[in-house]
Amino acid sequence: MRRKMVAGNWKMNMNFQEAEELLDELVDRLDKELEGHDVDVVVCPPAPYLEMAYDLGTSEEDENQVYFSVGAQNVNEHDKGAYTGEISASMLASMNVEYCIVGHSERRKYYAESNQQVARKVEILLQNEIVPIVCCGESLEERESGNHFKVIEKQLAESLFQLKPLDFARLVIAYEPVWAIGTGKTATPAEAQEVHAFIRNLIQEKYGKEMARQTTLLYGGSCNAATAPELFACPDIDGGLIGGASLKADDFIRIINAFE
Ligand code: PGA
Repeated sequence: MRRKMVAGNWKMNMNFQEAEELLDELVDRLDKELEGHDVDVVVCPPAPYLEMAYDLGTSEEDENQVYFSVGAQNVNEHDKGAYTGEISASMLASMNVEYCIVGHSERRKYYAESNQQVARKVEILLQNEIVPIVCCGESLEERESGNHFKVIEKQLAESLFQLKPLDFARLVIAYEPVWAIGTGKTATPAEAQEVHAFIRNLIQEKYGKEMARQTTLLYGGSCNAATAPELFACPDIDGGLIGGASLKADDFIRIINAFE
């Protein structure tokens, strides 16, 4: 179902103590400032901190009081077995992980993650009742050569459009232009909105109008407290996948507050 959402992708940052401090501060601020807000907040810390994030993000007195949901940054596409160093979807599910980022451009670039591998990861996550946050987006070269729409269409067609409607309905898509990630160069609201509308249209062609209307689409790439309000005001942008700015509680809270 379409929701307002802000997800923090911590990437490979923070030692254990720093992570604990940031999570504590987030809980404190969310408790005080955002009571009754209707934004889904997700924190995606490095894997060793997932359990701590779940424990701190859920009230000790009331299990239903959840300050934020917990997401992983990656998952292995296999069920289980001899894959040293890897983490399976069922392990994540058994630790109350509700979301998992898939197909981030850094994984595509440094670990050669293909659209086909993304498709398998999405499927195994859905089998384990974890919501995939599936990233797509073009490089600077692809944008400058005017190929960005084609690139995004291929990414979605090869990694998601094999899904049955009931499965597709459970995922979240993040548009993250690679040239905007970690560069301080946010896409303009007009540039982001144009691609989001394009993605919604692709979903409509494949799955129909209602599915397009109900899919949550996030923007990611140097989104911060200053740029979030204008981005989130765009009709097809439902929130953000936030890297650098999710590492400071104050910035992250201001981004959660950026919806009109
Ligand atoms: P950034 O990262 O906000 O630091 O650009 C976003 C992301 O990679 O998810």
